[in-house]
Order: sequence, then C-alpha cells, then structure tokens
Amino acid sequence: MDGDLQRRIQRYGWDRASDAYEAYWERQLEPAQSLLLTMAALRTGERVLDVACGTGLLTFRASAAVGPSGSIVGTDISDKMVALSAGLAADRGILNASFQQMGAEALSFPDGSFDAALCGLGLMYVPDPLAALRELRRVLRPGGRAAAAVWGERKRCGWAEIFPIVDARVKSEVCPMFFQTGTGDVLRMMFEKAGFCRVESRRITTTLHYDSSEEAIGAAFVGGPVALAYSRFDEKTRDEAHNEYLASIAPYASGGGFDVPGEFVVAAGCIEGSPH
Ligand SMILES: C[S@@+](CC[C@H](N)C(=O)[O-])C[C@H]1O[C@@H](n2cnc3c(N)ncnc32)[C@H](O)[C@@H]1O
Repeated sequence: MDGDLQRRIQRYGWDRASDAYEAYWERQLEPAQSLLLTMAALRTGERVLDVACGTGLLTFRASAAVGPSGSIVGTDISDKMVALSAGLAADRGILNASFQQMGAEALSFPDGSFDAALCGLGLMYVPDPLAALRELRRVLRPGGRAAAAVWGERKRCGWAEIFPIVDARVKSEVCPMFFQTGTGDVLRMMFEKAGFCRVESRRITTTLHYDSSEEAIGAAFVGGPVALAYSRFDEKTRDEAHNEYLASIAPYASGGGFDVPGEFVVAAGCIEGSPH
C-alpha cells in the first residue's frame, strides 16, 4: 500500500479514536508498557523521546522515571493525540514532558539529542518501521538506548479478525502490516538492521478481559485504528461487523464477557559508544 495513504489513514483514524483510547486500552496495554520501561532502564535526569506517544500513557510513566531534572518529548502523527496528551500534562502539572505532532519515520530532532527512545505499540502502524527505528537510532547519543513494544503473532492474538472484518467493508486496508513486526524474530532483526547493538527481545502472553460484548466491540471498533472506517459505516454495516467480530471471539467467552488471548513482543538495544 502507498505509504502516504497509510499515514493519512492512521493520522485521522487515531484522531477519531483519541477520546475513547485510554478507557478501552489503558489496562490492556499495561503489561507491554511495563516491560518496555523495565527494558529501557531509564535513569534520573535523562532526556527521553517517546514516539507514537498517543495519550501519553508511557510518556507520563517515563517522565516520572527521569524526574524533574530529566525531560521527555512525546511525538505522534495524530494532532488530537498530541493535543490530548499536552492537555493532560498541563492538568497534572507535569513540567518535564512536552508533545509535538510528527511522523515516526521523519523526526525533526538533531542527531544525538536523546539518551533514550521509546515506542510503545506504534511500529505496527508505521508504513516503514525499519526507517522509524533508524530515526530512533539517529536521534540517540552514543551509549543511548531504545525500546519498542509491538503486538505479537497473529495466531496468538484472539482479536485479530477485526482487521479483515473492517477491511472487507472499506476500499483501503486499515493496517496492512499490523502483525509483521511481532512475527518470529522480526523486531529483534529490525533493531539490529537499524544499527542497534546488544539487542534483547522478549515475548509475553496476555489476556484482554472484557466484561461485556459492548466493551469488546467498543475497544475493537471505537478505541483503535479502525475508528475512522467504522465511523463511516451505516447502522446495518455496523451490526453485521459487530456480529462477525463477536463470532470471531466467541471461543473466548467467559462469564458474561470475554478473556481474549494476546501476545506482545518487546525489544531493546543500544548505540555503541559512551556519552563522554
Ligand atoms: C496504540 S497507540 C499507542 C500509544 C502509546 N504509545 C501507548 O503505549 O499507549 C498507537 C499510536 O501510534 C500513532 N501512530 C500511528 N502511525 C504513526 C506514525 N506513522 N508516526 C507516528 N505515530 C503514529 C497513533 O496516532 C497512535 O497514537
């Protein structure tokens, strides 16, 4: 698919999802974000970049980890995500975090600007994830490090049918390469190809718990990247898509809700050299 089209689909899709995102995804993404922060091993006073920051779930945890003597910049392709996270920082009186609208493959920071770079659940949406990792490498100083989390193997993500169900009802696929980075050893190999050393990769399983069909439908259709396509469906198309999606997760029904299996892959790597 044409990269510019994919970037536009993501940008306006996440604009649309921004208000609902945290309510549906904060709890579900926490295990991947926690592992990413452990592997990033942030230290007091560091300058950190958080690419594809969304509403700042990871950014604000990293801002606490580096403390007032450190700083973090969150970047995202969606203007609404950037406005939302900047508003949350202001509301919470967080002074060491700032936010800018920016695509992951073309960062506007000089070489060597940061001690650490993060990308939580963002690379699956970027048309050229290797280019994004090369940009992370470029903006890190010698001795700096990056960590990124992605969703894992398609067959281990019980909610994966959301994409073909939506794609069957639109002209352009919403996330054509979604499971590419989480398959096999791809993320680790991409880190190495981008020039990172001492690359480490871990795979964790998770369970997405939904109390009800409504919550499962909301998370899949309203709180994520298919939100723009979904907003254009008429009522009949919505009902059909809901029913197909609920049928696809029916094997995971539990009580009145669902326990849907999922998997994350988290990788981290360093830049050769020392800062001094
Ligand atoms: C699932 S959210 C993750 C947000 C946050 N990192 C977290 O862990 O909660 C994915 C984010 O990637 C952003 N995104 C998608 N494509 C992007 C691109 N090409 N460049 C930068 N951000 C992008 C979206 O706008 C969205 O905010």
